[in-house]
Amino acid sequence: MSSYVTRKTPGDTVWFRHDRFGMFIHWGLYAMPARHEWIKSREMISEEHYDKYFKYFDPDMYDPKEWARQAKAAGMKYAVLTTKHHEGFCMWDTAYTDYKCTNTKAGRDLVREYVDAFRAEGLHVGFYYSLIDWHHPDFPLDMIHPRREDADAEELNRGRDIKKYAEYMRNQVEELLTNYGKIDILWFDFSYGKRKIPDDKPWMTMAAKGKNEWEAEELIALARKLQPGIIIDNRTEIEQDIWTPEQFQPTEWVRHEETGELVTWEACQTFSGSWGYFRDEQTWKSPEMLIRMLINTVSLGGNLLMNVGPTSRGYIDHRAEAALKVYADWMKYNSRSIYGCTMAEPEILELGVPDDCRYTQSEDGKRLYVHLYAYPFKTLCLPGLGGKVDYVQFLHDGSELKFSGAPVEHYTAGAENVKENGALRIQLPPVKPDVIVPVIEVFLK
Ligand code: GLC
Repeated sequence: MSSYVTRKTPGDTVWFRHDRFGMFIHWGLYAMPARHEWIKSREMISEEHYDKYFKYFDPDMYDPKEWARQAKAAGMKYAVLTTKHHEGFCMWDTAYTDYKCTNTKAGRDLVREYVDAFRAEGLHVGFYYSLIDWHHPDFPLDMIHPRREDADAEELNRGRDIKKYAEYMRNQVEELLTNYGKIDILWFDFSYGKRKIPDDKPWMTMAAKGKNEWEAEELIALARKLQPGIIIDNRTEIEQDIWTPEQFQPTEWVRHEETGELVTWEACQTFSGSWGYFRDEQTWKSPEMLIRMLINTVSLGGNLLMNVGPTSRGYIDHRAEAALKVYADWMKYNSRSIYGCTMAEPEILELGVPDDCRYTQSEDGKRLYVHLYAYPFKTLCLPGLGGKVDYVQFLHDGSELKFSGAPVEHYTAGAENVKENGALRIQLPPVKPDVIVPVIEVFLK
């Protein structure tokens, strides 16, 4: 078994650490302006104008079964859908506001169909729920609120009662965790600390919003009462099950800030720079980058949550489809180096990892996976593994790879290239296989 011990989690994270790879789905009214999910705040769009998106939102091509098929083919084992993002628009038939999808041309409970479709494909189902709400009348204005620069902002902010908003969130979380069956992940987003309050806006008292403002202890206790094994993230400011580095790739296994323990962590990333559908975005990651991000994450004991932002019509656009296909083509043959795998054991890492390679290792310790980021010149040396390996093959096609090498102790001390002599020397074909990142499967003795 893996020697890595992670900090205990209140929720059931065993399946999560095994499955490694999920789909984030950012979908809401912001898909209509189609230039980032924060657009209402970034451009301080008026309520009147933003209501046009409510008026004309018509996801006539929404087919979550197709989304689920693409996620499954890509090798994703779970999904997290934005049930409500910062804009406050609700993607399910909530009883607590009229600002919901069933009151738009959609006329249907979009969350219900998502849950049914993804469960039917065997994926675990998660909900993202924004703690921030730029539509709710009791959500106090602050430095990121779309109304912050309005002439009547101070008047608008007067009387707002965040305790009423916290109760609204509990009521909605109760709906989401009661009416849709077993929910595996609840992904809150996000808390922010004190920001400089503008001198001319002393009233912007609620510039910081965190666990106290959300009444996060009550919110989490409610979630756990309704769904005991549910996985909850850390963005209420109260740590729960998973740490959530966003839009960057950690370079070591994420540790607990105070205790230093290894934690269960999930990097979340976009295919392009935006979580919500962004028509004119040009920074789409290359196929190599997509595959390497997944491998790098698992090689450090983490999960990867990769985001799609469907169009307002309800389909996943061709660019995101193509990115999912990159995962599908690679995972079809190489997922064994991802599922049920984690960081290679310390005694293997201590021997050194070949240049331009990443190791992952099966949780049972019996299989080591070597991911080739650059294709070696005929021979690949795995330091220190001479004499410790029973069989070697390419993972994608299961074709044997010949190897040699005896344990380092067979060589007299001081002999030439002892390090290399003690290595496992694998003979590779001169031509790189037609795989973005070829993987070598090493069966250890
Ligand atoms: C950030 C963004 C938010 C996005 C989230 C995903 O918090 O503000 O728009 O949903 O990241 O992790």
